Amino acid sequence: MSADTELLRTEGLAKTFGRGCEEVRAVAGVDLALRRGEITALVGQSGSGKSTLGRLLLRLLDPTEGRVLFDGQDVTAVRGSARRDYWREVQAVFQDPFAAFHQYRRVEATLATALRLLPAATRADGRPLMEAALAAVGLDAAETLAKRPHELSGGQRQRVMLARALMLRPRLLIADEATSMLDASVRVTVLNLLADLRDEQGMTVLFVTHDLGQAYYLADRIAVMHRGAIVESGPAERVVASPEHEYTRSLLADVPKLHRSG
Ligand SMILES: Nc1ncnc2c1ncn2[C@@H]1O[C@H](COP(=O)(O)OP(=O)(O)O)[C@@H](O)[C@H]1O
Ligand SMILES: [Mg+2]
Repeated sequence: MSADTELLRTEGLAKTFGRGCEEVRAVAGVDLALRRGEITALVGQSGSGKSTLGRLLLRLLDPTEGRVLFDGQDVTAVRGSARRDYWREVQAVFQDPFAAFHQYRRVEATLATALRLLPAATRADGRPLMEAALAAVGLDAAETLAKRPHELSGGQRQRVMLARALMLRPRLLIADEATSMLDASVRVTVLNLLADLRDEQGMTVLFVTHDLGQAYYLADRIAVMHRGAIVESGPAERVVASPEHEYTRSLLADVPKLHRSG
């Protein structure tokens, strides 16, 4: 695959925590490519290294080995202002949106924190950016901006965090168990929203989940992670219809029934 079709790729990416007999090889030599305008699901049970891989891609962690290439550029070691530039392109939403909010801060102030990543000239125009991003996630700006986190439902909080990420118009969105804590009906709304972002804005998404059912519902491609390694990856239909790896088959055995979006 060429740099034209892929937005991000990793080469031999590894992360080891601790040392000696306490050593944990959380990510163990991962070659992963994320194609532009596609949703790739990273699936594996708890502890398989998914979040560590996500944090390496986000440059929140330094790898022990390997490289991360974004749009053909080596971003493995970016820091300072170069890392802030990278965060305009690559945004994330995590499992617990409540944890990401300041308890007493209104939604407007929470959204404003993302604007610090924008060049000063654009920052003055924060309000329209907030309104557009809230509209994109199906929230009414006039109603939502003045609210505090406890006045929102779990689904609304997760959509606010998504809006915060989208305000910067990132090219890559990493969603790490972002729908895991939501009720089934709200979850479907958020999953469909991610599909719309792909279809309408060509956004590239890495959808991290322990739930193969959600991965299959949403993703174009599935990468299966086990003990720090990608054991299998391919088109979602193929991975589910004819899994090549024993571990993928064991994950499939836990899913009662599979549905696709759209
Ligand atoms: N900061 C850390 N320090 C030490 N070990 C860690 C740290 N973060 C993750 N790990 C370990 O790395 C492994 C992978 O964890 P994680 O990436 O969170 O997996 P997942 O997201 O798939 O549940 C686990 O064994 C976990 O305990
Ligand atoms: Mg995790």
